[in-house]
Amino acid sequence: MPNKSYLDPSTALEHLKTYDHSDGLSISELMNSRIHGGLTYNDFLMLPGKIDFAAGEVTTESKITRNVVLKTPFMSSPMDTVTEGEMAISMALLGGIGVIHHNQTPEAQAAMVRAVKRHENGFITDPVVLSPKHLVEDVLDVKERLGFSGIPITDTGSLGGKLLGIVTNRDVQFRPETLPLSEVMTTQLVTAPEGITLVEANHILRDSKKGKLPIVDKEGRLTSLLARSDLLKNQTYPLASKRPESKQLYAAAAVGTRPADRDRLKLLVEAGLDIVVIDSSQGNSIFQIDMIKWIKSTFPKLEVIAGNVVTREQAASLIVAGADGLRVGMGSGSICITQEVMAVGRPQATSVHAVAEFSNQFGVPVIADGGIGNVGHIVKALSLGAGAVMMGGLLAGTTEAPGEYFYHEGKRVKAYRGMGSLEAMEQGKPIPPSAKVSGVGAGSKPSKPAKSTSHENAATSRYFSESSAVKVAQGVSGDVQDKGSIKAFLPYLHTGLQHSFQDIGVRNVQELHDGVRAGNVRFELRTASAQVEGGVHGLHSYTKRLFA
Ligand code: IMP
Repeated sequence: MPNKSYLDPSTALEHLKTYDHSDGLSISELMNSRIHGGLTYNDFLMLPGKIDFAAGEVTTESKITRNVVLKTPFMSSPMDTVTEGEMAISMALLGGIGVIHHNQTPEAQAAMVRAVKRHENGFITDPVVLSPKHLVEDVLDVKERLGFSGIPITDTGSLGGKLLGIVTNRDVQFRPETLPLSEVMTTQLVTAPEGITLVEANHILRDSKKGKLPIVDKEGRLTSLLARSDLLKNQTYPLASKRPESKQLYAAAAVGTRPADRDRLKLLVEAGLDIVVIDSSQGNSIFQIDMIKWIKSTFPKLEVIAGNVVTREQAASLIVAGADGLRVGMGSGSICITQEVMAVGRPQATSVHAVAEFSNQFGVPVIADGGIGNVGHIVKALSLGAGAVMMGGLLAGTTEAPGEYFYHEGKRVKAYRGMGSLEAMEQGKPIPPSAKVSGVGAGSKPSKPAKSTSHENAATSRYFSESSAVKVAQGVSGDVQDKGSIKAFLPYLHTGLQHSFQDIGVRNVQELHDGVRAGNVRFELRTASAQVEGGVHGLHSYTKRLFA
C-alpha cells in the first residue's frame, strides 16, 4: 500500500473553515430546490447539530398570535369530530389550545367557551345535581350510567340552586326506589366557600372523610363540587395555557364570515372568548377582510387568527386588515380532497415557509394547519417558521374528541370527518353506522350525530357553498383508531419535540427560527428512496408502539 499522508486529526474543526458552506442545505437552498415541485414535510429532513444540553432543558414556548404565547405549540382543529368543550379544556390544561368548532348553535358554542373559562382544575363545574323531589331510582340511574352516586341536592335540582343536602350510595341502599330524595338525603353538610383554593379544599375533603365537597357561594348556592376520587388523581398542569392576569384558561373558537357570524361572535365574547379563528378554506376574500376589520373595531382586545392562506399575497391582505395570526394550509389535511377537486392548494412545507417567511417580519405568527401526522412533522413545521401547528386527524380518536367509540373491522374507532365533507355540510346526518360498522363488539356505538340545530351550517360557509344548488365536497368522512387520552398523547408530543430539538442542537423555538434564518440549522432533501430508507423496512412484521 502506498503511504498516504493524512491531515492531523486535531485540526478537523479548523479544517471545516476551508469549506465555503456548512454541510447540507440552507432553508433558501432547500426551498429553491423546489423548482421541481412544492415540498411536503416528508420531502426533507433536518441535519443533526451538537448536543450540549439535556432534552429536559428544551422549552417549547411559542407565539400563536401577536399577543398570545403558549408553553406548547399545539392547537386542535375547529372540527365537529375534534374540538368541543372537553377537548378545549384538556388542550389548554396541557399547554396548547383547542379551537371550538362552529358547526353548532351559537348558544351551544358559547356554553363550551364558558366551560373553558370557568374551568378550575379539580373542581367539577358541571356536576350532576338533583332536587329533593327526585326519587331513589334517579340516583340508581345515575350510578348505573355514570358510575357514581355522591350527588348534591339543590332546591332547583341544578347548579346554582340552594344546597339542601347530598345523597350517597349508603343513603339509597335498600330503600324503596320510589322514595323521594328529601327522605333519604344527608343534610349534615361539610361545604367550602367559593373562591377557596384547590389545596385548601383538598385539605377539608381529606379531614372530613367525605366523598364529595360541595362548594357554595355566600347565599349557600352550589357553585361546584370536589370529589375525593379526583383528589388522588389530581394532576397539576405546569404547562397550562392561562391568561397571565386572570389565570383562567385561554379559550379559542371559530366563526365564519357571514352577517350571522357577527351575532355569534358577540355571544362568544360575552362568554369570555380570547381568540377567534376565522374559518375559511380560502381566506383572501372581501368577506374575511371586512370581518377582520369589524372584529378589530368592535372587540379590540380579541386576538384574530385569519386564514387559511398559502401564499404571501393572500397573507398580505389579511395582515393589512389586522390579523394577529395566520392559519396556513390548503389541501394538506388528512380528510381533504380540495387539491383533487378544486385543483387549488399548495404542498404544505412550501406554504408554511412562504407565508411564515413573509408574515413573521410583521410580527404575525403562522399556524401550520393540516397534514401533521407525527412529531417529526411538528418539528419541521416549526423549522419552516411556524409558531404552532394545528392538528385534526392526529387528535381525533382520543377520549376527549367528540363522539362515541364504535368498532370497525374489529378496531375501536371514532368518526373523523372533513368539515367540507357532505356529511358535515348536511350537518345533522350522522355517518350511517350500518354502512361502516363491522365486527361489532359489545358496547359498540355508532358515531354521535351532530347536534340538531337551527343555525346556519358552518361547513357550507367555510367552503363558500351555501348558495350553490349542488354541494361540492372538499372532504371525506371516515374514522380513526382509538388513541387513548390526550392527557398521555400531548405529553408524548411535547417530550418528542424536546428530544428532536436536542438532536438539532437548539434549546427553544426562537433558537430554531434564528438558527434556520442564520443558516446554522441545515436541511437535506429526501429522494423517494431516502424516504423508504428512513421508514421501517425489510422486516417480516413489526409492532409500532410510539410511547410508554
Ligand atoms: P389533519 O390534521 O391533517 O387531519 O387536517 C386538519 C385540517 O384540515 C383542519 O384544521 C382544516 O384546516 C382542514 N380541513 C378540515 N376539514 C376539511 C375538509 O373537509 N376539506 C379540506 N380541509 C379540511
